[in-house]
Amino acid sequence: MSVTTLPPAGTEPAGVAEPAAFAPRRLAHINLWVRDQPKSLAFYRDVCGLRQVFDEPGIGAVFLSNGSSHHDFALMQTMTVDRIGRAGQVQIPASVGNHPGLNHIGFEMESEAALVRGYRAARAAGLHTRTVDHIISRSVYLHDPDRYYLEFYTDVPQDWREIYQRHENELLTTPWDPEAAPADPRPHYSVDPPVEYGNGHVRPMRTARAVLCVADLDRSLAFHTGLLGLRLLHLDPAGRAAVLGGTLGLPQVGLVERPDAVGLHHVGLELADDAELEAALARLAAAGVPVVHEIDTPAHRAYVLRDPDGLLVEFFVPRAGVGDRFTPPAGVDPAFVL
Ligand SMILES: [Fe+2]
Repeated sequence: MSVTTLPPAGTEPAGVAEPAAFAPRRLAHINLWVRDQPKSLAFYRDVCGLRQVFDEPGIGAVFLSNGSSHHDFALMQTMTVDRIGRAGQVQIPASVGNHPGLNHIGFEMESEAALVRGYRAARAAGLHTRTVDHIISRSVYLHDPDRYYLEFYTDVPQDWREIYQRHENELLTTPWDPEAAPADPRPHYSVDPPVEYGNGHVRPMRTARAVLCVADLDRSLAFHTGLLGLRLLHLDPAGRAAVLGGTLGLPQVGLVERPDAVGLHHVGLELADDAELEAALARLAAAGVPVVHEIDTPAHRAYVLRDPDGLLVEFFVPRAGVGDRFTPPAGVDPAFVL
C-alpha cells in the first residue's frame, strides 16, 4: 500500500504557485498502440520487467506498473472499430489507434484543482480538450503543436490497487465534466511510492522519460513552458534540443528539432544503479536479446532495446551534474540528450 498525503481540504500544497497552466509534477506513463498485444505484453513484462496490473479487454488495453503510479505503460491493441466505454460512449473512435506507435504520454498533476485550472487555461486558449473519469484518475487530454497527444491526470482518493481489484476486466472510463462540482484541492498521489519489481531480464523502477522529435523547437518550447507549464531545465541552441521537467524538477521530457522525423524518438525507464544496469545487460545477453545502443554521456549511462513495433526503449541510470551535462558527446545521437 502506498502512502498518500492528505493536507486539510481547502489548502494548497506549500510551494505550488497558482499558474495559468497545467504545471504537472512529473511524467508518469507512456501509452502505446501495439500491433500484436500478446507479443508486446511479453516484451514489456518478460524482457523489460514491468508487472501486468490490470486488463481492460473491452477496449483492448493492458496496464503495467512497477508501483510508481497506476501504470508506467499501457499497451493498446490497434483496431479499426469504435471502442465503447463504460457509459456506452465512443471512447476511442474507429479512425484512431489504427497503427502502432505513441498514443499519449501521461503527466501527474498536483491535484484536481490544479488540473481544472489547466483545463480552463487550455479552453481559454481555444484548444480542443477531452475530459474523462478513469475511476483511478480524472484526466484532461489535448494535442500539442506537433499533434502529440498529452494527458494530464489527477489521482482519486482511493488506492489504485484496490480499484483495479474491484473492477477487474471491467471498462473504467466515462465522460467527466470538470465544472460539475468544486474541484478537490488536495493531492492524492503517492509521495514516495515503493518499487514493486517484476520478473523480467531488466528491473526498472519507473517510466521516467520521453524524447519527442518536433518540427519547430521554439514553437514547442513556447507551448510546453507556457500552457503546459513545464520547466525548461536545459537548452542546447546549437543542437536544437531542450530538456524539460515538471514541478519536481526531474529531467523527463526531451524535445529535439527534427522537422523531417516528427515522432516519438524513445522512452526511458530508470534503473536503480550501475550494478542493476550491468546485471540486466548480462541477463539480456544470456537470453539473446539484442541491445541496439549503449550510451554513456555526462548525464546518464544507458542501453536501448527495440520493442516489437520498433520503438526504442531506453534503460538508464542518471548521473548528477551541472552545466552542459545534457550535451551528448561527439558520436552520440543528440536525441539521446536524455
Ligand atoms: Fe494515460
